[in-house]
Amino acid sequence: MDPQTLPIKQKELYDTIKKQYKVAFEPLSIGDVRLNLLKVTDLEQILGGKDPLQDVSEFPFWIRLWEAAIVLSEFVAGHRFPDGAKVLELGAGLGAPGLTAAARGHDVTLSDYEELILDFERVSAAASGLDNVRFAMLDWLNPPEMEKYDVILGAEILFRDEFFQPLLTILDNALKPGGAVYLAHDVRRKSLQPFLQMAEKKYTISAQKRKLKSLEEEKEVLLTRLVTR
Ligand SMILES: C[S@@+](CC[C@H](N)C(=O)[O-])C[C@H]1O[C@@H](n2cnc3c(N)ncnc32)[C@H](O)[C@@H]1O
Repeated sequence: MDPQTLPIKQKELYDTIKKQYKVAFEPLSIGDVRLNLLKVTDLEQILGGKDPLQDVSEFPFWIRLWEAAIVLSEFVAGHRFPDGAKVLELGAGLGAPGLTAAARGHDVTLSDYEELILDFERVSAAASGLDNVRFAMLDWLNPPEMEKYDVILGAEILFRDEFFQPLLTILDNALKPGGAVYLAHDVRRKSLQPFLQMAEKKYTISAQKRKLKSLEEEKEVLLTRLVTR
């Protein structure tokens, strides 16, 4: 991806990011959807001297594309959501599932909890030729008033117990009647079952395992669908 071809606003954002961090565009093909994701290539710079081994909550989990996000993107690319569906991605990070939904023509909002992450997403959306994406600051622990969505997506967002109840409240507030939530997580993630037990009170849950082969190993990802009872 040639950054010179970015629209002016996103080129300026890209230039600002590039002054501070080493970055590169990574092409990602999801079926017939072609995305260009802007990624940090030097972890040390983004850690800024913090030691994630001392405090794991300091780790910038958004900087890598998780296998679950690829599986969720593949699902989104192959699924027919209702025409005009409004889609929200929670904890989008690099934003692959939401950008895939945008490439399928949906009205998409990518959300995360730091402006820098949203700036990376803004550049990636433009680099992928997508102009139907909005970007929203959404901290699960301090959420703003929420709009309503037909579809809510989330990949690898259930990694700390303290997020469960806030995320359930966000789903309650942001899901339109008749809407659906699609989550994707590594099957080995221990936090998944406790969250799903809490969610069962309000949602009917269906799940399927999907395999993703990478060069090193085969990852199993659990794709779950939650619809209001
Ligand atoms: C493990 S990463 C997954 C990123 C992306 N969904 C993927 O699968 O590639 C977790 C994401 O949750 C976001 N996150 C962490 N704490 C959050 C909070 N309190 N509110 C909103 N997002 C949060 C991180 O910034 C990150 O993008």
